[in-house]
Amino acid sequence: MIGKKIAEELNKQVNREFYSAYFYLSMSAYSDFLGLKGFANWFIMKNQEETQHAMKIYKYILDQGAQMKLLPVEQPPSIFDSPLAMFENTLIHEQTVTQQFNELVDLAAAKKDHATHIFLQWFITEQIEEEATVSEIIHKIKLVGGKGDGLFMIDNQLGQLAQGMATGSAG
Ligand code: FEO
Repeated sequence: MIGKKIAEELNKQVNREFYSAYFYLSMSAYSDFLGLKGFANWFIMKNQEETQHAMKIYKYILDQGAQMKLLPVEQPPSIFDSPLAMFENTLIHEQTVTQQFNELVDLAAAKKDHATHIFLQWFITEQIEEEATVSEIIHKIKLVGGKGDGLFMIDNQLGQLAQGMATGSAG
């Protein structure tokens, strides 16, 4: 059993993870609109990952005998300045998510909730990997100047990466 405050804050995190899923789905749609199918597939893969994150926390709340209260999911932006901007937005977003998990860990420690503290460690590790991956992609897009043949090469790479992750052979 977890305390009321912890359950409330985890419940909010479920909502934020669903927002992340929605945010990436929106970027996938915009990438598709731009003709960048690899970008679109990469963001779809992110959409699926974020949905899994939400469900992982959802299951934890229920396993701990607390109630779930599904909250409205905020509307994400639907237009982005450029392919580079989508990844820059992704990095800023993930940095915010990292901060949210840090605050959840602080709360679990303050409440001496060891189970939740251990449960959250997976997310802390996951955030390190996510920020590193996105930073690397930003670096590559900047290297090619964010357009032309270089951008299509990155589009191709992102498509392969998404496919590899979907089949479990990479990342
Ligand atoms: Fe759910 Fe991208 O962290």
